[in-house]
Amino acid sequence: MTSKTTGIPYPPRVPLARIPTPLELMERMSERLGVDLYVKRDDLTGVELTGNKVRKLEFVLADALQQKADIVLTCGGAQSNHSRATAVAAARLGLRSRLILRAPDPFNPPALEGNLLLDRLAGSDILWITAEQYKRRDEIFAREADRLRSTGSKSYVIPEGASNALGAWGYIYAAGELKQDIRKLPRGSSRRTTIIHATGSGGTTAGLILGAKLLGLNARIVGINVCEDRDYFVRAIGEICEDCISRYGLNVSFSRESDIEIVDGYVGLGYAQSRPEELSLLMEMASAEGLFLDPVYTGKAFFGMVQEIRRNARVFGDQIIFLHTGGIFGLFPKAKELAPLLR
Ligand SMILES: Cc1ncc(COP(=O)(O)O)c(C=O)c1O
Repeated sequence: MTSKTTGIPYPPRVPLARIPTPLELMERMSERLGVDLYVKRDDLTGVELTGNKVRKLEFVLADALQQKADIVLTCGGAQSNHSRATAVAAARLGLRSRLILRAPDPFNPPALEGNLLLDRLAGSDILWITAEQYKRRDEIFAREADRLRSTGSKSYVIPEGASNALGAWGYIYAAGELKQDIRKLPRGSSRRTTIIHATGSGGTTAGLILGAKLLGLNARIVGINVCEDRDYFVRAIGEICEDCISRYGLNVSFSRESDIEIVDGYVGLGYAQSRPEELSLLMEMASAEGLFLDPVYTGKAFFGMVQEIRRNARVFGDQIIFLHTGGIFGLFPKAKELAPLLR
């Protein structure tokens, strides 16, 4: 389907996200950091369907429907935002969902709270596996798909984070919105903008890089990784971009080394593990701006961004858009860690 406004041949899309999302100036944080800091509110793509995954799922689930699947399979951590968004979106489209989730002890699954509670309310079936088994998830997907086929079901596998060539279209599409957003800023297009976001499985970064090129979005795209390291993401994002370019015949030049910018060094204690200073900044944002970051993705990336600016005030230029990719339900399981900081 070719977009009337961009002329780009987008793959089929099923509308699920409340878009365009707003772009908001963070007045007090801008003053504190000495830059113009805006937040692109992709945490407002919906309520249960909040966050960046919804944009990717618009394209991926359109494909599942086209393939006449009746159940979608996906995977993630116990509090996976992507799995929750998949469960809810599937329910909305009349599909069933089965989630393959990691837990330290699969026989003793984590408490039913946050995203996990919503998964179950949306009717998802959950298969718990260990972190070790998760490394072989492709085999588990294949086994599950075979088993479902033998019961007369047609399954559709969505990779972790919906981060593949098709899912990347969600943020190619979003790049068009960001271009319009920047145009409307007081000194918008005359200043170079840096768009900063959390990188967790790479699909958002890949989509933004390609979208910026395809749509002429004059912005520097910076991902801050919340797990793994820079080399891992240069490889993962590179593969998604290259696959997307060849699969859809995109007329853009792309180089892993010059186009992918990942700021490493803020994984901290590890994926989904928080340091008090990260949680303190999350609380500062909530009280200064009424904006809630999540501890696993946006809170860590925002923390990384602030540290970099404090080290070098102009490292990202003076006009920054922080892309808020959602994740609010990940806050609730952190209540015990947050409580002492609130005293
Ligand atoms: C709230 C949130 N922000 C950011 C990300 C990272 O996005 P991506 O997986 O596309 O790198 C994720 C998922 O991984 C997420 O759930």
